[in-house]
Amino acid sequence: MRRLGILTSGGDCPGVNAVIRGAVLAGDIVHGYGFVGFRDGWRGVLEQEVVPLPRHSVRGISRLGGTVLGTSRTNPLRNGGAGAVRECFRRNGLDGLIAIGGEGTLAAASELCRQGLHIIGVPKTIDNDLGATDYTFGFDSAVQTATEAMDRLRTTGESHHRCMVAEVMGRNAGWIALHAGMAAGAHAILVPEHPVSLEQVAAWVLSARDRGRAPLVVVAEAFAPMGQIAPYAPRGLDTFGRRRLGGIGRLLEEELQARTGIETRATILGHIQRGGEPTAFDRVLATRLGIAAVQLAADGRWGTMVALRGTDIIPVDLEQALGALKVVPEARYREAAVLFG
Ligand code: F6P
Repeated sequence: MRRLGILTSGGDCPGVNAVIRGAVLAGDIVHGYGFVGFRDGWRGVLEQEVVPLPRHSVRGISRLGGTVLGTSRTNPLRNGGAGAVRECFRRNGLDGLIAIGGEGTLAAASELCRQGLHIIGVPKTIDNDLGATDYTFGFDSAVQTATEAMDRLRTTGESHHRCMVAEVMGRNAGWIALHAGMAAGAHAILVPEHPVSLEQVAAWVLSARDRGRAPLVVVAEAFAPMGQIAPYAPRGLDTFGRRRLGGIGRLLEEELQARTGIETRATILGHIQRGGEPTAFDRVLATRLGIAAVQLAADGRWGTMVALRGTDIIPVDLEQALGALKVVPEARYREAAVLFG
């Protein structure tokens, strides 16, 4: 029987389990593949921690948050490299691997493919910042969670006549901030792509207060106020050498209170946005990506990843996919900014 491995690596996100289910079911029904899963991403590959993934093991998992396989930010290129991965394929009799991950994971997968390994990528990030795909699964769920949280912040803000700051995730791009902020009717949305001055934010806050509203400011974790060159990142680097973000909301809390005189409270939503059940949209997208990934493996299209273009799932070359970051375009920001203040 032909066999494929599956792993989930990098930050988890709602919908990962639906990809696993889609791949295992379609692999079994359509192509006659058997599957094994690796525990905790590339760590499971390097340390040979393998679990069988028969069809019945994926029953009912598409509605579950997180990943049933576990994940880690282990970088295979730093910890044994292509040789160790090749040895793992050989021992487990694998034709190839489906790697579900974000930019770090897919970059590693691309390099391993360049060295001759058989890998298909499935893009995954709540940040929605991969240029090659219109939407990543997990984004819709994160936006839904962030919007619900902001609705709550607004009711307590109104009661106390306070300014509320909500900090959301988004390492390179402000998509979660833009969508959740618009959905919640925020008075200012701050994203890394479009620096604005603290004076401008304070002016929006005062204008909302002067109309009798409790101002809501939504900020993406990677936002840097105009004049500041780097985002707020006092927590060092992750295993892929990227800045660990988070905390700009607190800085805004102090600054806005000082500049406006309005009592201000910041809430950092953090990993709340990554946890919990996927929305129906994310379950459908993730299931379709899982089915398509197995089809690409069956067709021998190694070194590609599945992507959403319009309403179609298409294959994209991994190397090409990684070059392009999808940021919030100026026009989208300006459209939202019409309603600020
Ligand atoms: O890339 C996805 C993401 O959720 C970012 O938005 C965030 O900066 C990062 O992961 C957090 O990573 P960790 O779970 O390692 O703290």
